[in-house]
Amino acid sequence: MTKRDVLTASTFSAAELENLLELTARMDGTRTGNVLQGRTIGLLFFEKSLRTRVSFEVATVQLGGHCLNIFAENELYGMEPDDRVVMDGTAEEHVKDAAKTLSRYVDALGVRHLHRSKSWDVDRQERLLHAYAEHATVPVINLESTLEHPCQALADIYTIRKNLLDLKGRKLTLAWTDHPEPKGMGPCHSLLHVAAMMGMDLTVAHPLGFELDDEIVGQARTTAESSGGSFRVVNDFESGVDGAEVLYARAWGAQKYWSDPEREAMVKRSLHSWRVDEEIMKRTDNALFMHPLPVRRNVVATDDVLDGDRSVIYDQAENRVHAQKALLTHLLG
Ligand code: CP
Repeated sequence: MTKRDVLTASTFSAAELENLLELTARMDGTRTGNVLQGRTIGLLFFEKSLRTRVSFEVATVQLGGHCLNIFAENELYGMEPDDRVVMDGTAEEHVKDAAKTLSRYVDALGVRHLHRSKSWDVDRQERLLHAYAEHATVPVINLESTLEHPCQALADIYTIRKNLLDLKGRKLTLAWTDHPEPKGMGPCHSLLHVAAMMGMDLTVAHPLGFELDDEIVGQARTTAESSGGSFRVVNDFESGVDGAEVLYARAWGAQKYWSDPEREAMVKRSLHSWRVDEEIMKRTDNALFMHPLPVRRNVVATDDVLDGDRSVIYDQAENRVHAQKALLTHLLG
């Protein structure tokens, strides 16, 4: 049987996403199960994590399984992802050998790795993640990469549907916000895929120069339009949020400054107003406020918004457990 990897949220068909959401709803409220009895999930973290790490462990335990968290950057050998390389540099082990070995120990493998070299075009290829998927003989789940964060997107779209019910034609704005660091685009791209599949009316608001990945934006636009929704990009914060029923705030770094974060920081000095506050929320249609966390309070959004009665940030975090239980059951059940 071919193994199923989840590297991008676009891997799901609309019917599969619907099944996953129904399964997530069933998992929401039940803490016991035995689908993973006698099974082990291995998670490789090349980056920091609070929610993904803990929610996967809790989800696995609630399904009767065991979860191994490996802090790969410190605990594993330096990894070589490319084939036919003479490994006389710093890499000590090939991903092929690590992935094939780990596949003898675990039943699924999660990988969090965000590439940050000098080139966006190179990093967007996600060589390490794809090398694990190519060589592992068990399912590989993306726990956040340069381009995608599919598990976050499953929790996010479940959170939105739980609040708004029918999503077709509902207005979601994904708004770029200020941040002292160049953050990854993964949660944003994956959200666009699943929200487009649900036929939502999508607006992406960001300053000029902070475009999301062209290919993923193109895919999301096509999906939204063929699912009865719509897709637009605006470069003005206020008009971008007007009438939104869901306001999803997230910072992301600019491709054009990928090799020059100092230059990006200078450009962002004039963009501090891209912060969600009560005035921005008043322009929306009483929108749900969403953010995947961690969040820089009073930079990305004010305390009043984050702690306000339209904020669902902790529901999103909780729903990671339910959505990942559904995903693990779907893949391994
Ligand atoms: N949202 C999210 O993935 O959080 P962590 O980085 O804490 O895992």
